[in-house]
Amino acid sequence: MNPRYLVNFKLSELSRIKTDVVVVGSGSAGLVASLEAARYGKVIIVTKSGVEESNTYHAQGGIAVSLSKNDTWKKHFEDTIFAGAGLCNKTAVKILVREGVERVREIMALGAKFDKDKEGLLFGREGAHSENRIIHANGDNTGEEIEKTLIRAVKKNPNIRILEKHFVIDLLHYKSRCYGVIVFDNRSGRQFAVVASSTIVATGGAGQIYRETTNPEIATADGMAFAFRAGAALMDMEFMQFHPTTLYLAGAPRFLISEAVRGEGGILVDKRNKHFMKGYHYLKDLAPRDIVSRAIVEQMKKTRSNCVYLDLSKMSAAKVSRRFPSIKKICKEYGINIPKDKIPVRPSAHYMMGGIKTDINGCTNIDGLFACGEVSCSGVQGANRLASNSLLESLVFGARAGKTAALHSNKNKKPVPDIKYYKERKLFNALDVDDVKRSLQSVMWMCIGLERNKETLEEALNIISFWEKYTLSACVKYVDGFELQDMLMIARIMISAAIKRKESRGAHFRTDFPKQSDKWKRHITFRLK
Ligand code: SIN
Repeated sequence: MNPRYLVNFKLSELSRIKTDVVVVGSGSAGLVASLEAARYGKVIIVTKSGVEESNTYHAQGGIAVSLSKNDTWKKHFEDTIFAGAGLCNKTAVKILVREGVERVREIMALGAKFDKDKEGLLFGREGAHSENRIIHANGDNTGEEIEKTLIRAVKKNPNIRILEKHFVIDLLHYKSRCYGVIVFDNRSGRQFAVVASSTIVATGGAGQIYRETTNPEIATADGMAFAFRAGAALMDMEFMQFHPTTLYLAGAPRFLISEAVRGEGGILVDKRNKHFMKGYHYLKDLAPRDIVSRAIVEQMKKTRSNCVYLDLSKMSAAKVSRRFPSIKKICKEYGINIPKDKIPVRPSAHYMMGGIKTDINGCTNIDGLFACGEVSCSGVQGANRLASNSLLESLVFGARAGKTAALHSNKNKKPVPDIKYYKERKLFNALDVDDVKRSLQSVMWMCIGLERNKETLEEALNIISFWEKYTLSACVKYVDGFELQDMLMIARIMISAAIKRKESRGAHFRTDFPKQSDKWKRHITFRLK
């Protein structure tokens, strides 16, 4: 155990608060898990930013759910398995698509409003779906609607307390048992323990490890890193999904241009106005994400260009305003008037399929430690997540993890041992955290992006291992520093997993092993010895 600020101490020397279940993270998975756990006992949510800041809040696409007339859970199951490129856990997928229907009805009952016409819910189409099954809210603001609905419910619940601007430095653990978390209060710099019989990690993804990403600043792989340091297994870490279409303009944020735009008739063209996806896949612009992303990069190379373009000219202006109000607003701020003007786009890191290995109830290999949402890996997303399955995953597996953790807590009220931590740390004030972070993001983008091979991966591993030598042992006392240490650790595991997998599958494409191989139809896991 290596808490990174208070270097040598015993638990009895720290101040502490107690609860039944502590949930780390306040995206949809964490909030759903908290609401479920609060049926059985007291819950504390620890979140490093404000409660609203999460990947969920920024999700535009919607929720995939088989509620339309012609749709069935079996069709949704088949599409998810097909996109997952042979690595989906079929039991988890069946749970996702069946229980998902109920969870979506529940969130509507909590007050979430999805877009409708006279006949009922409106269903959109996204890549690799065989039916129109994506429901959305306020056009392209689905995540915000879900997050706000859940926050309202959480704030009303007397069993839930929220600690905002509190960063989890490490898990409190001893002999393969988790007893809660060590927290750093970002406002006061105070460090204390939240002791709980069950701990749920729901900290989201790792997109900030890359130079180009759709993810917000907070997606820095913290949960994966502190779970790994405590002995949790990480699985499928080579599978980072790249979203094909992010706004690409100097000075603009890498704002996601939802796949739903292509679902509504938008097409990808190159700088010569060629509709190039026809030449890459029979599903054209709605092929699976990995295929569209690589086709874009190929076309950029062929045309010696930094981006391709999304052409929305087949859509009426009224439809664009109704369906994509946020995309329209952001584009306008940068002088792009859609649907008249084309949007410059290119791929960027979007969603981590890998994470803390769990079973279908969020249980990890550590007693008392649970995980759900993007930080976790039950195998439900396989090697390539089907579009708009992530919010559904959070609702379904967040609820399962919340219930399992709460029941575990009620049965396991063990006294907490006086855990001792001793670790040599150097005070290293000269470390330029921002510089290392930017350098890491560039190396990851260049060496383990959409395409990778032995040479680029080994180069990245050497560089990052060297930076780790002086960065991980530094005694940093601020959140940026903790995040950097977490990102370096997880980057190294992602690279190591990508080196091991000598084939191409789903989001992992190796130019030196371009084919999928049955020999590799298995998961790669990492655990601290
Ligand atoms: C999108 O709207 O394209 C993103 C949705 C998702 O990642 O599932």
